[in-house]
Amino acid sequence: MFNTPLSIGKLRIAFPAGLGALAGYSDWPFRVLCRRFGAGFAVAEVLLDRFVLSVTRGKKASRFIRLDDEDHPCGAQLMGDDPQLFAKAARNLMERGFDWIDINFACPVKKVLGKCRGGWFLAHPREALQTVASVREALPPQVPLTLKLRRGLNDSPASQERFFEVVEGAWDQGVAAITVHPRTVMQRYRPSADWEFLRRLRQRWPDRVMIGSGDLFTPELACRMADMTGVDGLWIGRGAVGYPWFFRELEAILEGRPIPPPPTLFQQRAVLEEHFSLAATAYGPERAVSVMRNFSFQYAKLHPRGSELRKTLVQLKSSEDWRDYLRVWYAVDLPGIRKPPPADSENASDTACARDYSG
Ligand SMILES: Cc1cc2nc3c(=O)[nH]c(=O)nc-3n(C[C@H](O)[C@H](O)[C@H](O)COP(=O)(O)O)c2cc1C
Repeated sequence: MFNTPLSIGKLRIAFPAGLGALAGYSDWPFRVLCRRFGAGFAVAEVLLDRFVLSVTRGKKASRFIRLDDEDHPCGAQLMGDDPQLFAKAARNLMERGFDWIDINFACPVKKVLGKCRGGWFLAHPREALQTVASVREALPPQVPLTLKLRRGLNDSPASQERFFEVVEGAWDQGVAAITVHPRTVMQRYRPSADWEFLRRLRQRWPDRVMIGSGDLFTPELACRMADMTGVDGLWIGRGAVGYPWFFRELEAILEGRPIPPPPTLFQQRAVLEEHFSLAATAYGPERAVSVMRNFSFQYAKLHPRGSELRKTLVQLKSSEDWRDYLRVWYAVDLPGIRKPPPADSENASDTACARDYSG
């Protein structure tokens, strides 16, 4: 299925699946955790160009710009509306140690589109390619530039033509790889991702590096996408949130081994403690509680009494509450459940993107 490592410019990534950019989730603690489970790469949460240039140190920097030895290779993702600011921010992130820069031409959040950012560029190829040129020029040749795309603004033929114009122009300007989430911007998260579109892209550009995204809720689905489309890499999104085991399970399938059973409650508890400890390092123990509360709604899906856990989680405030939560709900080592696909009510939802980064 994957005969060669994933190449992003000169980077060679042996394991071709990584944690994709997820606002509110692909922070330093969760990236490190996923790497410990075998993720081959990670991409940090999307950052607004202006934000990158204004943040120096302190809490915000420790949340959004933190990177360390255990966290490579790691891409930084940028969003913005001004090619010059994009370029400065890209250079800044490279100097902070990120291994490549990814430009977000995909975000479907209304507020973002209204500010001519994210998915807006798919309807404006000229501006998109100006941005690519400006960032490419600002980076040294050895630092790869990649794009995150949806398959167009909407389903009109004109929209598809513009998508191809952006991609063709991007290859000409030296973009090293593209990640495509094959839904239109207007579709947001419904209906299902169109993997057939990825297969057609592969046929059109057999020698370019393409990473697939969209509805990779289980390692089996990730393998199916790779098989069906021929993509070079897999951008794991919602499937990994609260389920870092995803990468270990995928590795087992790729190596022809049986998938390990879902983590038991004691195994889950050990990972929750490890995740909390990483979050406490990054944010301090009190802030770590609210970060973990967010993730724990996802971890709770692996617990046989998940709906009761979710009620308790709403009230979690202090590190003492956190310790009690683990002590009460993870006291007995029962078998766990494999993470189900997101419920319809969760499908909104890169709203975090709008909340934190639309400026
Ligand atoms: C909560 C949330 C936050 C997201 N944040 C980003 C982001 O910062 N950058 C990005 O390129 N995509 C972002 N996405 C899109 C995902 O990376 C991914 O492409 C998409 O969810 C499809 O993959 P999946 O169905 O396997 O989750 C986000 C999605 C969600 C649900």
